[in-house]
Amino acid sequence: MTNIRPSFSLRTLLTPRTSLIALLFVSILPIVSAKPHGIHVHLSTGAVSIGNGTSGRVMFILSPNGTDPLDDIDDTTTPDFFFGMNVNNVKHNDTIKLSGGTRHNTDRGVFGWPLETLDDIPVGIYRAQAFLKRYDTAVRSDGSVVRLKFPCGDGSPSVSGVGDLASDVIDVHVSGKGQTIKLHLNNTVPFPDFQGHEVGGCSQGNYEDTQYLKHIKIRSKKLSDFWGRDMFLGANVLLPHGYDAHDNTSRYPVIYSQNHWAEGDGPDSYSTRASFKEAWDSGIIPGSANTTDRETPKMILVAFRHETPYYDDSYAVNTANLGPYGDAINEELIPHIEAHFKTITQPYARIQDGGSTGGWESAASLIFRPDLFGACFSSYPDSLDFHKHQAIPLYNSTNAYKYPNGSDIPSIREFVNGTQHILASTATENHWELTFGTSSRSSLQWDIWNAVFGVQGLNGYPLEPWNKVTGEIYPEAVEYWKSMDLAHHIVSNWNSSLRLGEVLRDRIHISVGTWDDYFLNEGVAEFKKRVEALGGSSWAEISILPEKTHGGYYRGMEVWDYLELVKRWVDDHAPNGTTPLHANLTPRSARGNIWSEVIGRGGHQAALARQSDPVIKVSGDVVGTVGQWDPGMKLVGRWVINNRTSEKHGCATFNVTQGESVHYRPKSIGITDQVQLWVTGRKMGYVEETRKSNSVTL
Ligand SMILES: *[C@@H]1O[C@H](CO)[C@@H](O)[C@H](O)[C@H]1NC(C)=O
Ligand SMILES: *[C@@H]1O[C@H](CO)[C@@H](O)[C@H](O)[C@H]1NC(C)=O
Ligand SMILES: *[C@@H]1O[C@H](CO)[C@@H](O)[C@H](O)[C@H]1NC(C)=O
Ligand SMILES: *[C@@H]1O[C@H](CO)[C@@H](O)[C@H](O)[C@H]1NC(C)=O
Ligand SMILES: *[C@@H]1O[C@H](CO)[C@@H](O)[C@H](O)[C@H]1NC(C)=O
Ligand SMILES: *[C@@H]1O[C@H](CO)[C@@H](O)[C@H](O)[C@H]1NC(C)=O
Ligand SMILES: *[C@@H]1O[C@H](CO)[C@@H](O)[C@H](O)[C@H]1NC(C)=O
Ligand SMILES: *[C@@H]1O[C@H](CO)[C@@H](O)[C@H](O)[C@H]1NC(C)=O
Ligand SMILES: *[C@@H]1O[C@H](CO)[C@@H](O)[C@H](O)[C@H]1NC(C)=O
Ligand SMILES: *[C@@H]1O[C@H](CO)[C@@H](O)[C@H](O)[C@H]1NC(C)=O
Ligand SMILES: *[C@@H]1O[C@H](CO)[C@@H](O)[C@H](O)[C@H]1NC(C)=O
Ligand SMILES: *[C@@H]1O[C@H](CO)[C@@H](O)[C@H](O)[C@H]1NC(C)=O
Repeated sequence: MTNIRPSFSLRTLLTPRTSLIALLFVSILPIVSAKPHGIHVHLSTGAVSIGNGTSGRVMFILSPNGTDPLDDIDDTTTPDFFFGMNVNNVKHNDTIKLSGGTRHNTDRGVFGWPLETLDDIPVGIYRAQAFLKRYDTAVRSDGSVVRLKFPCGDGSPSVSGVGDLASDVIDVHVSGKGQTIKLHLNNTVPFPDFQGHEVGGCSQGNYEDTQYLKHIKIRSKKLSDFWGRDMFLGANVLLPHGYDAHDNTSRYPVIYSQNHWAEGDGPDSYSTRASFKEAWDSGIIPGSANTTDRETPKMILVAFRHETPYYDDSYAVNTANLGPYGDAINEELIPHIEAHFKTITQPYARIQDGGSTGGWESAASLIFRPDLFGACFSSYPDSLDFHKHQAIPLYNSTNAYKYPNGSDIPSIREFVNGTQHILASTATENHWELTFGTSSRSSLQWDIWNAVFGVQGLNGYPLEPWNKVTGEIYPEAVEYWKSMDLAHHIVSNWNSSLRLGEVLRDRIHISVGTWDDYFLNEGVAEFKKRVEALGGSSWAEISILPEKTHGGYYRGMEVWDYLELVKRWVDDHAPNGTTPLHANLTPRSARGNIWSEVIGRGGHQAALARQSDPVIKVSGDVVGTVGQWDPGMKLVGRWVINNRTSEKHGCATFNVTQGESVHYRPKSIGITDQVQLWVTGRKMGYVEETRKSNSVTL
């Protein structure tokens, strides 16, 4: 629950591999050949075995003299220049060439941040490194074919993942006179050995157990069936002091602690802290000046390991882009945990908590599965209500990067002595992400939201809610997000057969600060407004704390006070407690996020079903509609007369939008013409496609 948005976790995650690669550092001066314009980068695949036809994304990163390119890649602080480009069919001994830069062909051109092009790199001394992120081709069970990087026990980093190719780090003198920088992709990023305790191999890793910290890993049948390859899930299980596997009389409540990639060291918001670990292992919380020693609360703390091809975790729900992670975690992994550890297997004793990403996950887990969990304690959650997606008024804006008055929509801020400073805008963050991957494949924050909250596009990748370059919002794509808008889900099922107004009362606990670094307080305020309009101010416990920033435990509490608060909730809601959680409040019928509905509405078959060809008919004029296309498609029409498409036959192209009617007026009366409408659609991440209408004869 500490401040672990990806920018932070990236820095943490990259450290081990950075140093591994740095060991291979050989300082060579690049081979410089004078070219008239800017910098050209040649990346050779050399002798490294990459099979035939590798596709992926190359990254070329320049950092200031004396620093390594991966030392700091966080967009708010990095001094680096990033350039990325998609590649297809890379082979042995190939040379990949990068030059220039474009905002218009993100699929095939070089995309740079913060500089648009390689031609603008200022004269100076730099260090440079290049990477090739290698995509695998996956054929999903719904028939779509996608190219993605499947992570391997490393938490799905945006660059330099296990198995990717990397060059050595070299020194470069940018002369300003035009030059070619040659790099050899001759290192393969190795598998991370977490503190020497790695025992489980690729996909979620797995680690050696200690007395109280146990690690499990299962093959998920549901996820493996969906992705057409073996998929795993892991969990780190922290047992309380005195836990005895042979004692059949004691059972414990469980906190499912949602967080980012949990590697080997337990529910990381708790057990990575040395003072916590010491008290937990001894069972005694040392007293302070005015408190006496007390016992640690006797609960089991579980963190999941669920790295995915789109991010360091799955958001723990069923989604059309990631697959049935909600079912896999809750119906395969949790039953496995309950079969192997002495847990109380009733909803009142299963608690969800977490902060940030984990704040959303814990709230969503309870809200979608009130039959499984008793309560959530969710801190500074990702947007619970997309009326404000961070600071973006998503439902009624036309652009995700600019307010109507033209000023930038901010994304990250800090307060210094009470004064707000903007550290990054939504445009900055999205453009930075786009260097690491197109079609929402950067493994970074805005892209995973696209994957989790949105449906699948016809191209197989997340149907993006806005144009990642310009920020233009596509309302039809945003409309699909509503099923993941937790306020919308609750409000629209308040009195439905799910009875959420009654079922969820008193079970949701949320806290956020008014100074949240990522404006997440705004989504909480919208959520609060909507649920309280129906349920009153006591329906949920929602605390919006003045001048608190992102991070810390629930309501900014001290860790043991917080765990005792949760334990009290469990005790109170036990069958012999003061306010037992009745079985009529945990019916299976209250479930949401049902996999068959999610994939039926958002998967490949749904994407195919929402397409249609142009249609024309004679009605005085020839009148046509352009057919149905994915949101964001730019459409160009043309009338084809007697099978001729040239302009001199009156067949000039014209821009059209979906839903628009188009009219053809014959040039001269009395001539028999065969008329057809062709429409060509283009969009970033999509293959250009031309669809033809029926023909009519005049
Ligand atoms: C690549 O293709 C060539 C020609 O088809 C073939 O001889 C070779 O074995 C292939 N290499 C790999 C690694 O698949
Ligand atoms: C580059 O950095 C190295 C060591 O980090 C230093 O010795 C060298 O003087 C620097 N070069 C320039 C031009 O600043
Ligand atoms: C790669 O190129 C090197 C140098 O030109 C050559 O010796 C080697 O045979 C090539 N390897 C393959 C597999 O083509
Ligand atoms: C990688 O290629 C560079 C440039 O050819 C060479 O200096 C270096 O030794 C190679 N490194 C490895 C690990 O093969
Ligand atoms: C606890 O239960 C297990 C499985 O039911 C049984 O094998 C074992 O003997 C029991 N242990 C004790 C101490 O009763
Ligand atoms: C303990 O003392 C500190 C310092 O006087 C005070 O801030 C804190 O509220 C006290 N805690 C309790 C539990 O009384
Ligand atoms: C969007 O809605 C908010 C209220 O939810 C309102 O304050 C704002 O003016 C609206 N913006 C536009 C562009 O309609
Ligand atoms: C533009 O609109 C936003 C959102 O309403 C507001 O916060 C900001 O202060 C406005 N900026 C200017 C320069 O008026
Ligand atoms: C914040 O305020 C303190 C106390 O007034 C002052 O010492 C400090 O320099 C200020 N910090 C900044 C960054 O302005
Ligand atoms: C309720 O039952 C549990 C388990 O049997 C027991 O540990 C606890 O003390 C009981 N609580 C009350 C208030 O009786
Ligand atoms: C246009 O082409 C179609 C298909 O080739 C053909 O059936 C039709 O007769 C052609 N029409 C004219 C007017 O040439
Ligand atoms: C069609 O739209 C494009 C931009 O998408 C614009 O450049 C072009 O001028 C437009 N063409 C016509 C005929 O309006």
